[in-house]
Amino acid sequence: MLSIEKYQKEFVDYLEKYATVKEPKNLYKPIVYILNLGGKRLRPVLTLMTADIFGCDYKKALNTALSVEVFHNFSLVHDDIMDDAPLRRGKETVHEKWDVNTGILSGDAMLIMAYQLFENYESDVFQSLAKLFSKTALEVCEGQQYDVDFEIRNKVTIAEYLKMIEYKTAVLVGAAMQMGAIVAKATESDQKNIYEFGKNLGIAFQLQDDYLDAFGNPETFGKQVGGDIIENKKTYLYIKAMEFSVEADQLQLYDLYTSESYDNEAKVNQVKQIFETSGALEATKNEIENYTKKAFSVLESLNISEEKKQLLKTFGNQLMNRDV
Ligand code: IPE
Ligand code: IPE
Ligand code: MG
Ligand code: MG
Ligand code: MG
Repeated sequence: MLSIEKYQKEFVDYLEKYATVKEPKNLYKPIVYILNLGGKRLRPVLTLMTADIFGCDYKKALNTALSVEVFHNFSLVHDDIMDDAPLRRGKETVHEKWDVNTGILSGDAMLIMAYQLFENYESDVFQSLAKLFSKTALEVCEGQQYDVDFEIRNKVTIAEYLKMIEYKTAVLVGAAMQMGAIVAKATESDQKNIYEFGKNLGIAFQLQDDYLDAFGNPETFGKQVGGDIIENKKTYLYIKAMEFSVEADQLQLYDLYTSESYDNEAKVNQVKQIFETSGALEATKNEIENYTKKAFSVLESLNISEEKKQLLKTFGNQLMNRDV
């Protein structure tokens, strides 16, 4: 096994060789731009680590890791259009730097490139990867649709929210790990368990993303702080604030999320205040910890060494304590 940093470095070296501009430049430049913009590379690192954990040379999983990262970046390009986001990883989003049409088509091409990378595998592995990937990619679309639908819905339950984030975010984290296990030809039961581990970690990850979107440090976060509030996203913070607040705050929060008359900065500040005083912030932090622990408990059913479990736990704890 390598260290987390080493997997990251090996992955980025491989990605840099892959991401090159071809003709027509207006299609490929935005692709190379977003792929080289950095990011945590957490999904590909999980793919490589998982392949290694199940006894395969991680190098065999590099094309799968790349596929997962290319898909993830495709989803970000389209997500930033849908969320009207100006910033990604501290830089302009693709549709801001170019335009919306460029974001749509370069994104489409990336989705196809992600599939194309499976051609590097023999037919049974190819088929298993493609099958899991197609299922996952469709679920991501379903999750993204719920996310957008909820913007204009008044009432969203915690169960609906959790299903939405499971689909838009967590299934890809689970699949990234299972795909590493597929390349390593791990047993069905190990594949299923590692998927569950990744999925629970992914739920914790999205809860943390929602928390950081409101309370992250604008200097380091890399995205527009308060973007979810401006877009009226029904996050865990919002749902819990509605549940915990006294009636006056509930009405105020409702008004802030439905009226067009607020200036963005004033809206963000007032909403954050209610998130904090209502206890929603605290509840979100607890839920992040709960899902991280749930992921760790799944590890117990895996047939791998303590040392390998420890590496996965270190990874999970790092995610829970991140500020980007
Ligand atoms: C952003 O993912 C989208 C979510 C699912 C929250 P990351 O936070 O992994 O983004 P990068 O790749 O590190 O920039
Ligand atoms: C993104 O969720 C999920 C996908 C890209 C599929 P968010 O909209 O919360 O991600 P960020 O915050 O823009 O990275
Ligand atoms: Mg977004
Ligand atoms: Mg979004
Ligand atoms: Mg977000």
